[in-house]
Amino acid sequence: NKGKYDHYMQKEIHEQPESLTTTMRGRLIRGGSRKAKTVLLGGLKDHLKTIRRSRRIVFIGCGTSYNAALASRPILEELSGIPVSMEIASDLWDRQGPIYREDTAVFVSQSGETADTLLALDYARENGALCVGITNTVGSSIARKTHCGVHINAGAEIGVASTKAYTSQIVVMVMLALAIGSDTISSQTRREAIIDGLLDLPNKVKEVLKLDEEMKDLAQLLIDEQSLLVFGRGYNYATALEGALKVKEVSLMHSEGILAGEMKHGPLALVDENLPIAVIATRDACFSKQQSVIQQLHARKGRLIVMCSKGDAASVSSSGSCRAIEVPQVEDCLQPVVNIVPLQLLAYHLTVLRGHNVDQPRNLAKSVTTQ
Ligand code: UD1
Ligand code: BG6
Repeated sequence: NKGKYDHYMQKEIHEQPESLTTTMRGRLIRGGSRKAKTVLLGGLKDHLKTIRRSRRIVFIGCGTSYNAALASRPILEELSGIPVSMEIASDLWDRQGPIYREDTAVFVSQSGETADTLLALDYARENGALCVGITNTVGSSIARKTHCGVHINAGAEIGVASTKAYTSQIVVMVMLALAIGSDTISSQTRREAIIDGLLDLPNKVKEVLKLDEEMKDLAQLLIDEQSLLVFGRGYNYATALEGALKVKEVSLMHSEGILAGEMKHGPLALVDENLPIAVIATRDACFSKQQSVIQQLHARKGRLIVMCSKGDAASVSSSGSCRAIEVPQVEDCLQPVVNIVPLQLLAYHLTVLRGHNVDQPRNLAKSVTTQ
């Protein structure tokens, strides 16, 4: 049931304040005045000790689920101190990459039925790793075959392009990082800031959804383009990949997410006055580096669309002509949840304006159960 919406993708983008609330329900404990706030993931509580002792955490997934894991990797490394590596499920299988008993392998999948992810799961189990699932589907193959896990509880997702599952997956993985990381005195301020940030996140997403009309206008400007590049780094490298994935899979426009740190190693050759380029430059530890990326793109007359924190529009566009999208600033590790929303809206409007099928893009399936 699409309710008041024209398409499932549109409905699922707009229901993110609610789906995020459901994802966190019962899992964040607000302490009393003297008690610190904590995280409780029922599905993991008996396994946290083993996870903390593991030599490495390996994230495994495909498509949007892989991107959600990538967005969560920095905070998991920061809070746990455990090396986190990333594997696209098919590539792990193709290489028969090493997986050890001392590894915790985390399988991220909205449907819980993706063939490549399932194959990688069987492989990791055979190699003795502790297998953790993060899935939206209770009773799915991945939920059943993993040793333990967390349901993201985002509600059924119908649109082939994953939207609300992505943001809920990130929220679960940030909670996972809090649960694995030790609650030391030195980390307390940071941990509490993240928990407060999580509790306020649905409000921030509500706020960013107000950009709907602005993103429709932007889609109108981009309607006849051949291609869109998206530059991001740090926490928002994943936003660049996921934003580009959304645009290409539904609007059928070529789009590529690029790690901004790699700009000079190839992508800069593409920059001219015609190719539209989106740059994610919200406030975090990478902000000054992104400012310099923007200046270098301006110097080559790039057609820029800059996503920045509220109040930064004038400063990011001062050195040349560009369009700014202002988003609310949140704790750095939660910023990818806010930042993906305008790009989801852009992909949605571009698709409708270009006259393509939003909910079932050609050649794609919601759940890819064959290799
Ligand atoms: C569980 C209940 C929830 C109830 C809550 C009350 C279910 C599905 N969930 O939620 O309805 O409100 O207790 O305390 O009944 N699991 C995996 N692999 C996965 C995902 C989950 O093995 O990929 C396992 C978990 O380890 C856990 C079980 O499935 O044993 C349920 O997981 P989850 O729903 O996340 O647990 P709770 O949030 O505690
Ligand atoms: C398909 C879907 O390609 O599988 C994507 O169309 C999804 O939306 C990908 O990200 C992985 O699916 P899952 O269910 O394992 O998260």
